Formats: sequence, C-alpha cells, structure tokens
Amino acid sequence: MAHEEKYNLLKKLRHAALQGGGKTRIETQHEKGKMTARERIDFLLDKGTFVETDMLVKHRSQDFGLDKQRFPGDGVVTGYGYINSRLVFVFSQDFTVFGGSLSETFAEKICKIMDQAMKVGAPVIGLNDSGGARIQEGVLSLAGYADIFLRNTLASGVIPQISAILGPCAGGAVYSPAITDFTFMVEHTSYMFVTGPNVVKTVTHEEVTSEELGGAATHASKSGVNHLTCRSDADALQKIRDLLSYLPSNNMEDAPRIPASDPADRPLRGLGDILPENPNQPYDMKEIISDIVDDGKFFEIHPDFAQNIIVGFARMDGYSVGIVANQPSHLAGVLDSDASRKAARFVRFCDAFNIPLLTLEDVPGFLPGTTQEWGGIIWHGAKLLYAFSEATVPKITVITRKAYGGAYDVMSSKHIRGDVNLAWPTAEIAVMGPKGAAEIIFKKEISEAENHDEMLARKEAEYREKFANPYLAAERGFIDEVIEPEKTRLRVIQALRMLENKVDSNPKKKHGNIPL
Ligand code: HXC
Repeated sequence: MAHEEKYNLLKKLRHAALQGGGKTRIETQHEKGKMTARERIDFLLDKGTFVETDMLVKHRSQDFGLDKQRFPGDGVVTGYGYINSRLVFVFSQDFTVFGGSLSETFAEKICKIMDQAMKVGAPVIGLNDSGGARIQEGVLSLAGYADIFLRNTLASGVIPQISAILGPCAGGAVYSPAITDFTFMVEHTSYMFVTGPNVVKTVTHEEVTSEELGGAATHASKSGVNHLTCRSDADALQKIRDLLSYLPSNNMEDAPRIPASDPADRPLRGLGDILPENPNQPYDMKEIISDIVDDGKFFEIHPDFAQNIIVGFARMDGYSVGIVANQPSHLAGVLDSDASRKAARFVRFCDAFNIPLLTLEDVPGFLPGTTQEWGGIIWHGAKLLYAFSEATVPKITVITRKAYGGAYDVMSSKHIRGDVNLAWPTAEIAVMGPKGAAEIIFKKEISEAENHDEMLARKEAEYREKFANPYLAAERGFIDEVIEPEKTRLRVIQALRMLENKVDSNPKKKHGNIPL
C-alpha cells in the first residue's frame, strides 16, 4: 500500500469513529435536547485540548448479531485534555452507539484512563448517558462494571472524581457515580435508579414515573444523590469546570490559590444589619457567606437537600475553602440526620483534598423526635462528629449565635482540633437554650410560684444572662477571640494565612470505622 493510501485508511477509520451511531441517532439525541458524547467533551475542555485514546477499539462479541455491528470506539469516547489549563481525564458515554451500553471493551477503555489518571494524579470526569449493561454481552459487561467500581473506590480520596448524569443511568450502573465525589444531574433528561418504574410496579405495586422515581429534582431534594441540578448539558459541563477551580488535582497538592483583588480588610456589614435582635428569629446565613468570601462568590453543593445546613466552596484571599454553615432560616438550622450526612461527606471530601474548612455556626441542637431517633440520628450525627474530629486540614469556626448542646461540640469545636475558634458577641454557648434550661433547673421554683409564666420568664432571663454568651467559653480558651462581625473576613483570612503550612496527623491505622 502506498503512503498516501495508508494516510487515507487512517482518515477513513477516524471518520467512521467520529460518526458514532450515525446521523439519524445523532439527530434523535439532539431532538431530546442533549449533546452528543463528543460535543460534550468539546464543551467541557479548553478549546482544542482533547487528546482521544482508543478511538478504534471495537467490541469482540459474536452473539445476537453483534458481530455485524462493530462501531469504532464502541460507545464511549475517552481521553484527556485541560480545564483552565489543568490536566483532566474524561470519558463520555455515547448513547448513539448501542444506547451507550457498557461492554467489556467499553469498560476497558474507561479503566485505562482511570489507571492513567491515578498514575499522573489528575481528576476523572465521567459523562454518563447509557442504557446500562450491554445486554448481549451478559456477565462480561457485569465484570466490566465491577472493574470500574473497584477503580472508583481505589481512586477515592486520591484524585477528584466527578460524574455528570446526562441521560439514563440505571441498575448497578448507578454505583459508579455514587462512589465518585460529586454527581450533577440535568433536569428532565437524566434519571438514576436501581430498578425502573416497571420493576417497581411489579414488586411494590407503586405507580411512579421515571422522573418522580429518579429524576434530577427527586435526587436533589429527597435522596441527596444529586449534588447539583443543572438546566442543560451545557450548564452541567460549565458547572464541572467551575467546581474544579476550587479543587486540587490530587491529594498530594493544594487547591490552586488565585490572586485576590478583594481586600482582606474591606468593611463588612455590622451586627444590626445581619442578626435580628430577637435570638429566635431567623436570618439567612447565605448573606453572611457572600459578605465574607472573595467577590461574594459561593459555589454551593447540595442546595436543595437538607437545607438546614449549607455546604460549598468559596475563596478567601484566594485560598479555596470549604464552608459548612448552619442555616437558621430553615428549620432554625437544627442538625437532623440528612444535614449531618450531607455535611459529614463534604467535610471528609475537603479533608481528603487539603481544602481548609470554615464553619459558620448557629445551631440550636439536634432535632428531637421519633422520626429522627428511629432513623438513626445517633449514627448520622456521629458521622459529622467523626468527620470533623478526624479532619486535619485547617479548621476555622465562627459562632454567630447559637451553639447549644452536643451540636456545639460537633461543629468543629476547639475540643475536636479546631485551630481557630471565634465567636461574635451575640454567641450563645451553653448546654441548651435558656427556656428549656430554666424549665429543668428551676422546675421547683416555677411550679411553686403564683405566676408560673412570670417566674419562667424571670428564670429564663437569669439563665440567658449567665450562660447565653460567648464569655464563659472565652474564659476557658475554648473560643480564641470574641470579634465584632465586621472583622470576620479579616480574622478568617489571617487564620488561613497562619495555617497555610499546618501539619497534623491521625494515628496510623488501616482505616477508621466511621459510623456508616
Ligand atoms: C444493548 C441497548 C441497551 C442495552 C439500549 N440499547 N439499552 N443495547 N444493551 N442495555 C440500544 C437499543 O437497542 C437501541 O438500539 C439503542 O440502544 C437506543 O435505545 P432505545 O430503546 O431506542 O432508546 P430510548 O427509547 O431512548 O430508551 C432508552 C432506554 C432503553 C430507557 C435506556 O433503551 C432501555 O430501557 N434499555 C435497557 C435498559 C436496561 O435494562 N439495561 C440493563 C440494566 S441492568 P438501536 O440499534 O435501535 O439504536 C444493568 C446492570 C448493571 O445495567 C450492573 C452493574 C453491576
């Protein structure tokens, strides 16, 4: 064969791979409002940086007529490229080829880039759009999934792993995204479930649509499996780019520090503009967050799940920080099972990837009741306690108002290795709220009083005066400094600078036994 013919053959093979499942199937994909696998990669990565691997891989199946349908690439596009000039690996399932279903070779392609990503320490981004196991391949496909699950697990805490769900993701296939660090779903075009509506109907007699059972809204608000709902493929891909800017490429690095133009000592709002005079009235903690972080930019994770706690990333003086904050405007910021699980997972992610933690605290305690107790609040609350306790990254806490009971200990207190613990003058650090406390310790006086309500109010005020403040904790050094709210940004930034080279460790062990 002449040289020119050889070039032509290569061109022809490449051209065939670029066609995916063909024009008609691509049109169908577009009609559903979805991009193709390749369009997604082009949108995700810095322009022109994608280097594809295994473009010519084909499946080896002979059964059910598959030997006559061998698409180069076999339904998944894999390779590496750059996001904001930083290396990432990506796989993008191609629904136009056998419905993006996973074959033996498809899995081999994904495993290959995951192994490479682990060796060079770069994140893996999975773009999922698949009918699940390639049914014609039987156990080979199941084996392929397990090979991926194992790699997801081994990579956990070593390199960031991010999943976008951009179409179907059903059966055991859901467990790969579930092991990754963040899962983003697109509203109306994506769903995730272990078994679909038909099986649900047979087994439990429930009538439910795919959207209700496992759509983006369901997983964002009910299960928490979806960290962020996106409007479209493009929105999801842009959000992945944004998220990565806060993360290091692997657990041996720090997140990139971006020179800040926002001054550390710029004036903030005073108390009067933030907290209501009445300590039982809510306020929006997100306003405090946007006040203190660089340029008011906060990348919230899980905004629709357990809204009584807020988690997400921001920058302060250019440092990437993970923020965990009670939200007094939702259920008074109480800690319940979902909030504890949500925050615990976030804290562990930040700790694994060297991202300092800023905790903003206003918590009346753990939520009482049978639903919570029977649902395992003891274990779930312990997850958060465990996560904060084992975290060795810089830990800075600011108590804005309530810090009651066990929740005071849990929320990154000094006692569990908080590095810098600050409180506003409005902080109330005590075993419980003044009313509950007065009812217990002055029970006798109140019952014997002529006017019970008056006595209760008097005793409540007495307790509030004595305990509902930050000064007893400050006397003990449990609080390093009581600060004016206006100084919060400056003090947190000073703490971040001071803690930049912090080293701390945990006892040597195989791994701990977090109450899962
Ligand atoms: C092989 C598949 C496939 C699969 C879809 N296709 N799923 N081929 N294996 N799992 C093919 C179809 O034959 C079709 O081929 C093309 O992909 C598009 O599928 P359609 O059905 O036309 O598309 P749509 O109407 O959009 O429906 C999408 C779908 C449906 C909802 C995903 O295809 C579906 O229900 N597929 C089966 C899902 C499933 O049961 N998978 C196994 C789950 S168990 P042509 O040639 O016509 O374009 C599992 C276990 C994993 O995954 C275990 C891991 C441990």
